[in-house]
Amino acid sequence: MKVSIIGGGGLVGSSAAYALQCGGVVSHVCLIDANADAAKGHAVELLNASCLTSDVRVSAGSMEEVANSNVIVITAGLRRKPDESRLDLINRNVDLFLSLLDQVKSAGVKDNAYLLVVSNPVDVLTYLAVQRSGLPWQRVLGLGTQLDTARFRGYLGKALGVPASQVNAMLLGEHGDSMVPIWSSATINGLPLEQWPGFTPAIGQQAFEETKTAGATIIKLKGGSSMAVGHSIREVVETLARDSRRVLPVSTLQHGLYGVRDVCLSVPTVVGCGGCRQQLELPLTPKEQLGIQRSAQVLREIIDQVEARIGKSKASHHGVSAPTGNAVRQRVIPRSAWQRG
Ligand SMILES: NC(=O)c1ccc[n+]([C@@H]2O[C@H](COP(=O)([O-])OP(=O)(O)OC[C@H]3O[C@@H](n4cnc5c(N)ncnc54)[C@H](O)[C@@H]3O)[C@@H](O)[C@H]2O)c1
Repeated sequence: MKVSIIGGGGLVGSSAAYALQCGGVVSHVCLIDANADAAKGHAVELLNASCLTSDVRVSAGSMEEVANSNVIVITAGLRRKPDESRLDLINRNVDLFLSLLDQVKSAGVKDNAYLLVVSNPVDVLTYLAVQRSGLPWQRVLGLGTQLDTARFRGYLGKALGVPASQVNAMLLGEHGDSMVPIWSSATINGLPLEQWPGFTPAIGQQAFEETKTAGATIIKLKGGSSMAVGHSIREVVETLARDSRRVLPVSTLQHGLYGVRDVCLSVPTVVGCGGCRQQLELPLTPKEQLGIQRSAQVLREIIDQVEARIGKSKASHHGVSAPTGNAVRQRVIPRSAWQRG
């Protein structure tokens, strides 16, 4: 399996390449970047590490490389300028993303490729990719709250003195300020988190606050997130490559679960061959359910502003049935959508 990372010369893209190399689950990682030297430099360094890590081939190349790639990861993005508003930054990143999508489409994409969107605002860009990439929506995933969930598990584990790997607690909704902690199903290795000795709502809230501010804290301390986001990307790619069907909080197009539709955001999603194989609706508390709906509202408002500026795509949602108006408890993706591998 070949993975191309557009933005592979940057902090996130190169860290994802390193995590993929350490994971050893794909055959080839290609780094593509407007800064060709940075991409080449990372590829050379990863080659230097290859005898110590895995047999993954690492190269740097141009956009043509996406034509024979199985997974295309987009991490290219622009940083905020001094005094720039959030919406101006969103607009600049949308323009960059749409131009990258055009280049990807001109290079040609395999019918059964997967697109993994990481650049921010990730849920908005994932939605635009669903509309405009030409791939079935199930094959377009955004990193969503995958990184936030990893951070949350880490902070909770640290506060309670248990390994993060034993903390099962998801954040759903928007990758952003409105993300929602799902306390009602959180466990420590299957035992209810809220009954865990030493757990208090204040400890939980503190871990959630640390999670929400982690990105800003890391930018202040060292310029930007790299390692944890690299591993988060690796987990999604590995799940696709191995068809392991893990339940991940990736961002996908929504069709009515939790009362939400026509935005991309994170819900528990079975990921494997074909991309999104199933979206799940858990019984939530009213506050959690409202939180996810609030995330959808926030995202819809941004998408409306973006579409008013760039024009609405005429592209249809591949494989999306007409909205029913009723929330369903799970959405199983028909076999025909994922059988192509
Ligand atoms: N979804 C998440 O959880 C998450 C987490 C961290 C960062 N991010 C996002 O990832 C993106 C990248 O962050 P970073 O820290 O790696 O930034 P960075 O500045 O280190 O890297 C961005 C890279 O994109 C490249 N680039 C810019 N325009 C390009 C183009 N037209 N074609 C090809 N490459 C181009 C740049 O040369 C640069 O190497 C940002 O949008 C950031 O907000 C997302």
